[in-house]
Amino acid sequence: MSTLIKLSARLYDPVLGRALKPLRQAFVRALPEDRSLRILDLCCGTGDQLRAFERAGYGDLRGLDLDPGMLAVAKRRSGTIPFDEGDAAHTPYPDASFDIVTLSLALHDKEQSLREAILTEAYRLLKPEAYILSADFAFDERTRFMGRFLITAVERFAGGEHYENFKDYVRRGGMKNILPGGDVDIAETARVLNAGIALWKIRHRR
Ligand SMILES: C[S@@+](CC[C@H](N)C(=O)[O-])C[C@H]1O[C@@H](n2cnc3c(N)ncnc32)[C@H](O)[C@@H]1O
Repeated sequence: MSTLIKLSARLYDPVLGRALKPLRQAFVRALPEDRSLRILDLCCGTGDQLRAFERAGYGDLRGLDLDPGMLAVAKRRSGTIPFDEGDAAHTPYPDASFDIVTLSLALHDKEQSLREAILTEAYRLLKPEAYILSADFAFDERTRFMGRFLITAVERFAGGEHYENFKDYVRRGGMKNILPGGDVDIAETARVLNAGIALWKIRHRR
C-alpha cells in the first residue's frame, strides 16, 4: 500500500466502498452454500469483504493483514469477526485449516516474489479439495474503457511501489501468469467494474 492510502485507512471504505460493492457481492455468489465453511481472508484490509460474507450468513470467518491502521478500522467496524496482524506469506495457522482462502485485490500491489509466497502459503492453509477465491485486475479485450481508465487512475494515485507493482501485474497479463509453479486449476468465475476486475477460483492439486 502507498503511504497515502496507509495514512488514509479510515478513508478506504468511504472512498472505494461503493465502487467495490459489486466485487463483494460476486465473492459471496462464488462461495459454496454451506454456511459453516471456515473462511480466511488474506490481506483483508478494512474487513469489508468479510462483513459481506457475514451478512450473507457465513459465521466462521477470519482476517489477516499486515497494516495496523487497516486492522484498527476492521476491528472497529466488524464486531465479532477475529482479525490477526501478520504477513500473509508467513501466517500462524496450521496446515489444511481452512475451506476457502480469499484474496481480494491482494496481489496486484505486491512484488512478484511476495505474490508467489502468499499464494504458496494459501495452498498450505487449504484443506484437500478446497480452493482460493482471488479477485484482481484483468485488462483484456473484455475490459471496457471506463474500467481500465478508473482503475489505472486509482493505482496511479496510490503511487510509489504500489503503482510499479500494479504495472508489473498488468504487464504479466493477470492472475494466471502470476501463479507459482505446480499443478493448478484456474477458472474465471465473474467480472465486475466494467470487466476490469475478475474473480478466479484457484485449486492446487497436491
Ligand atoms: C489493495 S488492499 C486490499 C484490501 C482488501 N482485501 C480489499 O479488498 O479491500 C491490499 C492490502 O494488503 C495488505 N498487505 C500488504 N502487504 C501484506 C502482507 N505481506 N501481508 C498481509 N497483508 C499485506 C495491505 O495492508 C492492504 O490492506
